[in-house]
Parts: sequence; structure tokens; C-alpha cells
Amino acid sequence: QTMRRRFGNVILCGFMGCGKSTAGRLLAQSLGREFVDLDTFIERKEGMSISDLFREKGEAYFRRCETEACRTLSRRSGLVLAAGGGTLLHPENTRLLRETGVIALLHTPYESIAQRLSGDHSRPLLERADKAAFMRSLYETRMPVYQSAADLTVQEAQSDAAAQKLQALLTA
Ligand code: S3P
Repeated sequence: QTMRRRFGNVILCGFMGCGKSTAGRLLAQSLGREFVDLDTFIERKEGMSISDLFREKGEAYFRRCETEACRTLSRRSGLVLAAGGGTLLHPENTRLLRETGVIALLHTPYESIAQRLSGDHSRPLLERADKAAFMRSLYETRMPVYQSAADLTVQEAQSDAAAQKLQALLTA
């Protein structure tokens, strides 16, 4: 794990709205690494937003793009990579990303996440009438999956503090 930690990619995982992109960008900056957001990578490749991709091509198509992106990015090294909230639910993706990287879980309190997501409309999975209840049950079922995939975990509500804690763990 030391080699993967020193030279491989650092993959941030966690629930939607946990701060993967914000903390990832900050972490990349302080480690002098390149930052890649998996969703943005897919949006550029497909030439449309995640919302449009879900609407026009369906979730299954998006999930295939996600695995393809994991395959492409796992061939690179020295990246800080923000995964999507659903990326690690597919064992193939986790396997690909772990081969050349360490997986870090951003464990953000549910209350902070719910607050951030309440007025957000960029996540197609959450565009439904029972949003609040659905979000909570999704959080409960997904958290154990993230936990079992992660090499290390940071518990923090603020993205900047999370990035600092991660840096300390990674350079220890
Ligand atoms: C998803 C999370 C989103 C995005 C897509 C699906 C999920 O990423 O990949 O909307 O299944 O949890 P974020 O975690 O960056 O919101």
C-alpha cells in the first residue's frame, strides 16, 4: 500500500454532496498533483451534462461510461481523483481504481450533506417527490459499501479541513 500511496492515484469517494470535488481540488493543490473529477471527465468525453446523459441515454449508459472512465484513469498515476457517489457501488470500478491508487472516504455528517443537496438539481437520482426520504435510505445503504472499499477515512463536515486531514494521513 505504501507504493500505491506514494506514487499512485488518490481516489476520493463518498456520498453525493460530501465534498469530494472541493476537498479533492484543495488536496491536489497542496500535494502538487493534477485533479480530475470523474463526472467532469465523463461530461467532456460525452459532450453533455450528467443530467442530460441520464435523461437522453439512461442511467445504465452513464454507468458504462463510468467504468470506461475508471479503466482509462486507472492507467494514469499521480492524480487526485474525485469519484462519483455511485462509482464504487460497482465492484469492477473499485477493483480498477484500487489497482493503482488508494481510496479515501470522505465521511461527512448526513446533516451537512442533506443541507447541501436540498436545493440542488444537478443530481438526476434525487429528482423525485420523496427526495428527503430517498436520500436518507440511499445514504444508509451506500455508506457500508464505501467503508469496505476505502483504505482510509476522514470524518469531517468542512471540505477544507477534510483536505488538510487527508494530506496529513497521506504524507504520514
Ligand atoms: C451519482 C453521483 C453523482 C453523479 C451521478 C450519480 C450517484 O456524483 O455521478 O449523478 O449515483 O451517487 P456526485 O457524487 O459527485 O454528486
